[in-house]
Amino acid sequence: MPKLKGTVLLPGDKSISHRAALFSAIREGTSYFENFNFNRDCLATLACLRAVGVEIETKEDTSVRINGKDPGRWQKPDHPLNAENSGTTARLLSALLANLPFPTTLIGDASLSRRPMKRIIEPLTQMGADIRSNNGYLPLEFFPVSGLKGIDYELPVASAQVKSAVLMAGLFAEGATRVIETIPSRDHTERLLNLPVEIDARGRKIIRSRRGLPIPDISMKIPGDFSSAAFFITGALLLPGSELMIKNVSLNPTRTGFLEVLKQMGAQLEINLTQQEPEPAGEIVIRPQKLHNIEIPEELIPNIIDEIPILSILAARSEGTLVLRHASELRFKESDRIKAIVQNLRQIGVEVEEFEDGFQVCGPQSFKGGKITTFGDHRIAMSFAIADLLSDEPIEPDDPDCAAVSFPDFYHILKSVVQA
Ligand code: S3P
Repeated sequence: MPKLKGTVLLPGDKSISHRAALFSAIREGTSYFENFNFNRDCLATLACLRAVGVEIETKEDTSVRINGKDPGRWQKPDHPLNAENSGTTARLLSALLANLPFPTTLIGDASLSRRPMKRIIEPLTQMGADIRSNNGYLPLEFFPVSGLKGIDYELPVASAQVKSAVLMAGLFAEGATRVIETIPSRDHTERLLNLPVEIDARGRKIIRSRRGLPIPDISMKIPGDFSSAAFFITGALLLPGSELMIKNVSLNPTRTGFLEVLKQMGAQLEINLTQQEPEPAGEIVIRPQKLHNIEIPEELIPNIIDEIPILSILAARSEGTLVLRHASELRFKESDRIKAIVQNLRQIGVEVEEFEDGFQVCGPQSFKGGKITTFGDHRIAMSFAIADLLSDEPIEPDDPDCAAVSFPDFYHILKSVVQA
């Protein structure tokens, strides 16, 4: 079996890159980001912003300069805005399109057009937006309104995209907006916009936004993407003889639930926090270890939501039974990820039980080669590329290139640390 050896530096975090672009676009002045992630999703965000007249200059595919301006001075695009495969682009950008002085249309690819948009249409409509949709799905049409008003909104789903959309619309609304979050989700929006946050008597997080709050200059070097790191962490934990260091990776605690799961499974990783502001980041050293499967605590699900495909590979190779429930949100990601995980694990010879809201797998099991279906989902492609390293026979995805949605250099960087 090959091993993973060496040091990896990962492209900037996808969630932070989207927000870097969107928050700088609405701020008067110039912002500058190093290690911006020029993956397909973030390129879709940049293209939409350019189409409304935001000036964006990119350099060597790693840095970006954004000249933002108040959305009141954005220009009417001459074509529909295309979020392509990106849920974050569609849901966060909608908050800004809801308050423009001209109509716009938002479209996406076939996968995004199957993902629910009601979750943002409802609160934005409560705020006064005029949005027409295809029964809660894309395309969305936004019409000018006389102004938005602030709302109190208790999140019905644990979703950082919905939370961010309401808070962003709140920046342009009359009166205060309060978002009430019972189950924590990634906090990049409130952190980067420096929004007032408090915990109420019932332990719920209350985040406020309102018109006139200054949009901070968040120019920075974007930490590496933790969700991308999870593929390398898993590979190095499972492949005997590995020793891998991941440098400058995001260690934002609302993103690193996967590290908590690993700890509960018995892993000991060396983790050094080297930066706290504006986003926590540091390095992780990984060596192979024997792991024991666990029942995943429900409250951790939003914090590991993007890491569940690679967790399924880890679980199949660890001892005991992994039980993952309360994760029906997985059915509404870039693919129905529960179906994609279960079908593909079975395809490579793994016994796995499917539930409506998760799955259960008992390990360790060996992988046989075979053809897998990515369903165009980047995280499925990358998870099974790690499974391929653990299999004697090749595991062949139908569409390996879809990895570029979040991580265009994935295969190249993986190859650079694989040793025979
Ligand atoms: C994201 C939030 C999560 C996550 C997605 C990125 C974000 O989606 O799965 O990859 O940047 O806010 P939900 O908000 O739908 O859970």
